Amino acid sequence: MDDRNGWGREHPVLTGSPRSPPASFVEQANVTDPGIYDEFEAEWPDCWERAADLLSWAEPYETVLEDENAPFYEWFSGGELNASYNCLDRHLEAGRKNHAAIRWEGKRGERRTYTYRDLYVEVNEVAAALRDLGVEEDDVVTIYLPMIPELPITMLACARIGAPHSVVFAGLSADALATRMDAADSEYLLTCDGYYRRGDAFNQKSKADNALLKLEHDVRTVVVDRLGADLPHVLGDEEYDYHDLRDEFASETVDPVSRDAEDMLFLMYTSGTTGEPKGVVHTTGGYLSHVAWTTHAVLDVKPEDTYWCAADIGWITGHSYIVYGPLALGTTSLMYEGTPDYPDRDRLWEIVERNAVDVFYTAPTAIRAFMKWGEDYPAHHDLASLRLLGSVGEPISPRPWNWYYEHIGNEECPIVDTWWQTETGAVTISTLPAIDEMKPGAAGPGLPGIDVDVVDAAGEPVDPGDSGYLTIDRPWPGMARTLYDGDERFRTEYWERFSDPGRDEWRYFSGDAARVDEDGYVTVLGRIDDVINVSGRRLSTMEIESAITDVPGVAEAAVVGRSSEGTGTDIHAYVSTEGGYDDDGAVREAILDNVESAIGSMARPEAVVFTPELPKTRSGKIMRRLLEDVANDEELGDTSALRNPEIVGEIQAEIDEE
Ligand code: PRX
Repeated sequence: MDDRNGWGREHPVLTGSPRSPPASFVEQANVTDPGIYDEFEAEWPDCWERAADLLSWAEPYETVLEDENAPFYEWFSGGELNASYNCLDRHLEAGRKNHAAIRWEGKRGERRTYTYRDLYVEVNEVAAALRDLGVEEDDVVTIYLPMIPELPITMLACARIGAPHSVVFAGLSADALATRMDAADSEYLLTCDGYYRRGDAFNQKSKADNALLKLEHDVRTVVVDRLGADLPHVLGDEEYDYHDLRDEFASETVDPVSRDAEDMLFLMYTSGTTGEPKGVVHTTGGYLSHVAWTTHAVLDVKPEDTYWCAADIGWITGHSYIVYGPLALGTTSLMYEGTPDYPDRDRLWEIVERNAVDVFYTAPTAIRAFMKWGEDYPAHHDLASLRLLGSVGEPISPRPWNWYYEHIGNEECPIVDTWWQTETGAVTISTLPAIDEMKPGAAGPGLPGIDVDVVDAAGEPVDPGDSGYLTIDRPWPGMARTLYDGDERFRTEYWERFSDPGRDEWRYFSGDAARVDEDGYVTVLGRIDDVINVSGRRLSTMEIESAITDVPGVAEAAVVGRSSEGTGTDIHAYVSTEGGYDDDGAVREAILDNVESAIGSMARPEAVVFTPELPKTRSGKIMRRLLEDVANDEELGDTSALRNPEIVGEIQAEIDEE
């Protein structure tokens, strides 16, 4: 892999003064014994039974970890369970049927509360309907829904009948949906007529229709009528109305299917180092154990809490920490469809106050926006119910960290800066909030039982203070088991670089660069591969580049990230055209449109810079690292390997002109 984002450059990342966990928090925390680190070490891998014990198993497992076929590890082998049973039935059996499971806040101020009983009833009806439509165990069902309750409901309905779901973020394009359905041979789609976007009715169904036109196989589609008269629609062949199906299967129940611990619970497509998205495979036993455990130990969630993870279920954070983790623990999970600034910039704090939210989990991009909007917005609300704050998705630097601590947490709530990935399934690096000191700017050490190492190119751990590659040296239950596109890609993407198969030594490589301090606290510096992180969303530069080079007239393109105060990173595209002409308004428009239709609006470049040529090495490789230096206004790295060094000056001049 080519380190094209160059973590070797000096990163001005500092950590702020450490803070101790507030005493009021420690008194009530789920995990308080500092001995947990040593215990996990001494008992590894059996220590992970603590996570598995948070679940109800239909059949007990025989082995905690099976590592004979590394890196294709198996966890809790022999065990059987059902995720929907764990998230629903067992709470009913425990007499908690009237406890709120999901509180939903819609974009237009709508509110719906689902008790565990309500959720159980609807999930069962939908499960019965899906079965009747022909969905069988192991069929992949694609879900293309915005943040409405039917999203988690359909996920749990799939889990109930043992059909892995593949949720595609609602903002992704028709092309992106088609690619994912095609790659997974998915013959069932759950979507909706549309949703409200900036006050208008936005047609989601037409995007879904366009996607289906591109598929060679037939698809049965269930449509949730979200907009009613605001967006009338007619159902065609093989299309079914969600509410009609529910009526047809009213009050039906479906026995939860016993799934092997290693059976697939879901697929989640994410960006990788090539243009093709990767279908990350998560299993039932290990994933669910790990998310339940981290919701308990890191987010300190209790069943009686109102807990709010303000992410989108269309990405892994929402899967793990809006749906599976909190519902497995039987808590109340708040789900918000809207944006943080509508109707006003205090919207989130109004929701926290009204719902007396105990635990709030969001992304640094949101925290930076709150900071920019100013402290008056939260100050007008009573946020005293908050007990713990979380951050996820990108590095949080000390300034926004301190702002979050002070203005949202009133210096009484610990902050957990949780590092993890679609592939890790659940949190892998974080402080334990009642035990560890917090260091603003550093996520923390590996969780108990997780062996995080920052290593140099030879795979040797770096000295404290130095940066290197962020790796994990031992398997963990929530880890991806493989990629849907094949075991080989799984091996090459994550294991090849730092493992020694001959000696049966395996080390997972995250794709991130990081620095580690003398206490083992990790500061993540960012991706070193062809992935960029825009507002906490993971995008592949290759995928964007290929959408750009598809535009007639474009010869070549290189996409890099530019650090930004607001989004963390903006996308800059450098483009050379076939005619060699400089700036071309029509081509620029076509590029922006094509990126939007190939991927989605979040991938639209912030800047498109036309250049006669791209900087290349003598072997013809585009030097993206130099372009990144240019975009970030940084001193240029070594240009001696360039075949066309003069071009860099020209590009710089072009940017200065803009
Ligand atoms: O670069 C890291 C960054 O997000 C990447 C994973 O993206 P994704 O699979 O979309 O999952 C996001 C939510 C778990 C990582 O490789 N990242 C995630 N959390 C942090 C982070 N970077 C720094 N600090 C974090 N806490």
